[in-house]
Amino acid sequence: MDSKELRSLFLNYFQEKGHKIVASSSLIPDDDTVLFTTAGMQQFAPYLSSQKNVLEKFQTRHLCSCQKCFRTDDIEEIGDDTHQTFFEMLGNWSIGQDQSGYFKEGAIEYALDFLVNKLGLAKDKFHITIFKGNSFIPKDEEAKKIWERHGITYFHEFGEADNFWGPVSNVGPCGPCSEIHYDRGEEYGCKDCGPNCDYCKRFVEIWNLVFMEYFKNEKGEYEKLKQTNIDTGIGFERLLAILNKENSAYETDLFSDLIKEIEKHAALKYKDDKIAYRIIADHLRGSSFLIGENILPSNTERGYILRRLLRRIIRYARIIDLDLNSIDRLIKVIILKYHHIYPELNQENIVNIFNIEKQKFARTLEKGLKEIEKLTEITPRQAFFLYQTFGFPIEMIKEEANKKGIEIDEKGFKEELKKHQEISRKGAEKKFGKNASEKEIKLHTATHLMHQALRDVLGESVQQMGSSINNERLRFDFSYTKKLSQEQIKEIEDIVNQRIKSGFKVIKEEMPLEKALATGALAFFKEKYKEVVNVYTIKNNNEIYSKEICAGPHIKSSENLGTFKILKESSSGANTRRIRAVIN
Ligand code: ALA
Repeated sequence: MDSKELRSLFLNYFQEKGHKIVASSSLIPDDDTVLFTTAGMQQFAPYLSSQKNVLEKFQTRHLCSCQKCFRTDDIEEIGDDTHQTFFEMLGNWSIGQDQSGYFKEGAIEYALDFLVNKLGLAKDKFHITIFKGNSFIPKDEEAKKIWERHGITYFHEFGEADNFWGPVSNVGPCGPCSEIHYDRGEEYGCKDCGPNCDYCKRFVEIWNLVFMEYFKNEKGEYEKLKQTNIDTGIGFERLLAILNKENSAYETDLFSDLIKEIEKHAALKYKDDKIAYRIIADHLRGSSFLIGENILPSNTERGYILRRLLRRIIRYARIIDLDLNSIDRLIKVIILKYHHIYPELNQENIVNIFNIEKQKFARTLEKGLKEIEKLTEITPRQAFFLYQTFGFPIEMIKEEANKKGIEIDEKGFKEELKKHQEISRKGAEKKFGKNASEKEIKLHTATHLMHQALRDVLGESVQQMGSSINNERLRFDFSYTKKLSQEQIKEIEDIVNQRIKSGFKVIKEEMPLEKALATGALAFFKEKYKEVVNVYTIKNNNEIYSKEICAGPHIKSSENLGTFKILKESSSGANTRRIRAVIN
């Protein structure tokens, strides 16, 4: 079975069962605190927690999709049989309940019917995981009984770490799961093990059924949701490999055409260095999809992931001696495989961005090589510096050092790397707060609108002197010599509220500081900015209302921003005024 057939079998099956096929959402989720979409349910989260009405939006509670996903935590693992950065997830949902909704019974019946009757997988190879319960949620005896009624005999109990799903960010809908693991047989691992074995890959998880009944709130407590929901996810690549009796998705049609094309332009064959081939194939596919989302290579966040993938392609291309002038032909194979469902993939665009990055990397490497030339020893710290500043992969530093007869302490390097990752993780947590709350993000956007409205009403000399936001209010200090009149306050409120009502989008662009200043973006802390900055533009069809350099995050559009109100206007030192405002 090829990938196209499996995708349509799944979607058609659920469509026949009354589900609406929903297109994949973007790889960039609406939730700005999350880097990428990693599961099919993300686009449905507001419906699962009943913040939004599913019937109004989709006219049915029953949905299915094939969702683009991207995971970054395992980039170093790519090359083995199971990991990929980009992947697709098949899923079905039943959101909320009336007579038409289904819960555990329905989800289990559909899953077994599809796998056994449609795909012909043997039921006696299924091992089912059951949530064993914790201090606030009981063991899932109900799910176990349903599986038993359907002739399942192998069960394994797991707790929160393995068998409780979500929320994707800190707050949101979540619930216990029941997973179907497929037993590939003793020849694939231990004699006597089960799902989630630490030592072998005998069991492969093929379908995760989440019984979404809870909501994790900002205090970290679990509340019962007003409604029950079904959220399911199949790792598309994995299922395809199992159906084709392959060890890995790299051996299925999703990758085999690409791997064949790479072989045409490389000195080593796939069998000679599978890992390098798989890294190149995975990263070519992954970076094509990131570029399809208009992400550009950069040194931060999503752009940094793209840069890392592109540079790793170049690095591994050297290992198998792949001619990178063939990049357009490689990308063409990816486009042919995917463009019927993902038309955002544009060959010319992907090739251009790849080539620009290739040139940049070449220049950086040249500088880095000069740096290595000067060294007579390379400490782990220096190795890390080369890695971070020049984008040198450790293997390459080793290669260059060996040429000079210098040994590299790789363990020491890894420790440095770990230390750095820990610092960045803490930084990210700090940036977003532990619960980067939605209200704060909205107030952040309202601050930009108000800032511009102040300049419109009081004059261009108004300058931001300080800003502080918590999840209740914004506080904004600005340069101005006089107390504001009631009329002026009302005018500022009206301007902001008109903008909110008129509907706008917040567009984030990353660009060099100089360019940002040249476009007229407001910037009041010039000496503090980095070389590359984010510019947030608030605009609708008729006007660009505000443009500021800012670290974010911001909401994406004015939908649901609420009503803006100034609570207090006062002095805050010489020639400085302070406003406290809220949105309701
Ligand atoms: N949301 C669940 C998952 O992604 C189904 O595994």
